[in-house]
Amino acid sequence: MRQTILVTGATGTVGHEIVKQLAMQDVTVRAGVHSVIKGENLKRLPGVEIVEVDFNDPDSLHAAFTNIDQMVLITPLSEDQLQMARNLVEEAKKQGVKYIVRLSALGAGAEPGIQLERWHREMERYVEESGIPYTILRPAGFMQNLVTYSAASIKRESKFYMPVGEGKVSYIDTRDIASVAVEVLLSGEHQGKVYELTGPEALSHQEIAEVLGEATGKQIDFVDVPEETVRQAMLAHHTPVPIADAILELYATYKAGKSANVTDTVQEVTGRPPHSFRQFANDYQECF
Ligand SMILES: NC(=O)c1ccc[n+]([C@@H]2O[C@H](COP(=O)([O-])OP(=O)(O)OC[C@H]3O[C@@H](n4cnc5c(N)ncnc54)[C@H](OP(=O)(O)O)[C@@H]3O)[C@@H](O)[C@H]2O)c1
Repeated sequence: MRQTILVTGATGTVGHEIVKQLAMQDVTVRAGVHSVIKGENLKRLPGVEIVEVDFNDPDSLHAAFTNIDQMVLITPLSEDQLQMARNLVEEAKKQGVKYIVRLSALGAGAEPGIQLERWHREMERYVEESGIPYTILRPAGFMQNLVTYSAASIKRESKFYMPVGEGKVSYIDTRDIASVAVEVLLSGEHQGKVYELTGPEALSHQEIAEVLGEATGKQIDFVDVPEETVRQAMLAHHTPVPIADAILELYATYKAGKSANVTDTVQEVTGRPPHSFRQFANDYQECF
């Protein structure tokens, strides 16, 4: 029987890519969207149903989870993410979901870890303790973060700013995270596994600037800035203090070179090598 797969956070960086890739398969995809306007693009994909869902609203969760077989559980980075993850797992239990793929984060297994990792580890535990078969994906930082957070300043002034010094990071392309999620969902051969996913290499942000410059044909500079400058910018954009602190703690691990580990997991699971940063830069050059 044709499976119905719910993807939560379906308009997000990873979520929309998973929906796109699942739409090419013989499954029904239920795209759980928070804002219907952001979900407009997904409507045109074959086999995709759109369902409006608020992770804090039990009625909308009930509707989203009715008659689904499997789900991809993605929550946003927010102050109430733990409660959201709990609500989602409880609803999955109530409605007899048969398999959960959870989008976590690299380092969630670290002891004692940083705050972002501890939050993710806590949410992984809800999934593990649910009794529902699961697979956990722990990706490194996303290459697409450059689009989300830095493209505007690159377009404006050919510069991007981060408090990360010369630290190298093994960023991953979200298209590869999605490919792993799709393979895991469709093959049924990865239950109980935890996969640490990275790109094929670790690059410094100076190197990233060079590659972006080559892809776009313009001089792009990375500017190392003090943590405090970034904190003030995040607070000015109404980022809650605990989230701003957690992001700065992550940047400190980047700066210390602790986020440079590279794994072969994308290749092992999908049979294809992950996108290099150069491929990403070429494919997304228009964003910069
Ligand atoms: N960014 C990274 O480098 C990175 C690396 C590793 C792991 N992660 C983890 O990956 C996960 C997703 O991150 P992301 O960057 O892909 O996030 P994202 O693009 O912001 O996606 C989050 C999604 O959740 C939806 N959402 C927000 N509040 C909701 C609510 N109350 N009810 C229903 N849906 C809601 C958003 O929809 P709206 O926009 O319409 O609100 C959006 O579609 C997070 O747990 C993050 O910690 C991120």
